[in-house]
Amino acid sequence: MEKDRIYIFDTTLRDGEQAPGYSMNLDEKIRMALQLEALGVDILEAGFAIASPGDFASVQAISKEVKDVTVASLSRALEKDIEVAWEAVKHAKRPRIHTFLATSDLHLKFKLKMNREDALKRSVAMVKFARNLTDDVEFSLEDATRTDIDYLCKVVEEVIKAGASVVNLPDTVGYATPDDMTRMISTVMNKVPNVDKAILAVHCHNDLGLAVANSLAGLKAGARQAECTVCGIGERAGNAAIEELVMAIRTRNDDYPFSYGVRTEEISRSSRLLSQITGVKPYPSKAIVGANAFAHESGIHQHGMMANSLTYEIMTPESVGVMTTSLVLGKHSGQHAFEKRLADLGYVLGKEEIKTLFGEFKSLADRKKTITDRDLIALVESSRQSS
Ligand code: KIV
Ligand code: ZN
Repeated sequence: MEKDRIYIFDTTLRDGEQAPGYSMNLDEKIRMALQLEALGVDILEAGFAIASPGDFASVQAISKEVKDVTVASLSRALEKDIEVAWEAVKHAKRPRIHTFLATSDLHLKFKLKMNREDALKRSVAMVKFARNLTDDVEFSLEDATRTDIDYLCKVVEEVIKAGASVVNLPDTVGYATPDDMTRMISTVMNKVPNVDKAILAVHCHNDLGLAVANSLAGLKAGARQAECTVCGIGERAGNAAIEELVMAIRTRNDDYPFSYGVRTEEISRSSRLLSQITGVKPYPSKAIVGANAFAHESGIHQHGMMANSLTYEIMTPESVGVMTTSLVLGKHSGQHAFEKRLADLGYVLGKEEIKTLFGEFKSLADRKKTITDRDLIALVESSRQSS
């Protein structure tokens, strides 16, 4: 079956960097951008050019540095913002202007102090303005998931007429469920007459822990661009995590029959670089990139893993660039794993010796959280000396 190509829009350097504790300097942003290019993302949102001189400089530097990826800058729906965004990205091989305006009544009334009609006019005018600068213009309807659906469809139709090549429907506050996403994207696909002239995008925040599930639902309903960040960093509870989204598609490709350009083997390297730069490590049980994502301690699991790794792993560590599964020795481990680790360390032991040492190992594991190879060697050597 011909698989639909989806586009991965990475916003680690914009929405991700907006999260407290994740700001990066120019040099760090360039290093991260080059790694994102190696990861194979299709579009890289390099920053919000008008936000600060530093942001402008990094968007401009990244635009000159990367070759194989579209570079976007965010801008509010204001002429000045759009001009500055263009100045920053215009050197890129494939530049994109990403402009946005909120469309929910809540945002219109309390934040923008505008009515729906004026917001529609502004959206159309700013897309046209951006289209005078470049062919690749993305328009986002901020707070789309809390926007009246008929009004939302009208805005989508008009910004496509005005020349938007990508229309993004963000779940800005992470309020939607997968059912909501299916309904919203399907309605737009069915009701907006010119929808086939643009790519629909989803941009899901993780306030209810549903960002990846919501993105998958949006793609299944017809969106073809998903916006995400490495390790899901971003405003508040973050954005959809790129590694979770892509590995869900790879692992469950019968249910999500899409092709994509991401080289999954670069996932671990990308996450490590982000941690190195920001000093923040993913929590150990974080899917795909946490330290425990491919570690097994329980005896039953270790026994299964030694027989066939499919028993307890749904993807290989190599597929995300992790060297190998680790069978961690601790109080839950069984004798098989213990014996195997000793054999790997060069100890060939008789049955009785193993039995005695295994008892000693269990007592040690009750006292000590992590058992290292040095602990094991000390256990064998001291038992040999005393016998
Ligand atoms: O969450 C959001 O709505 C955004 C837009 C600016 C795209 O980040
Ligand atoms: Zn966002």
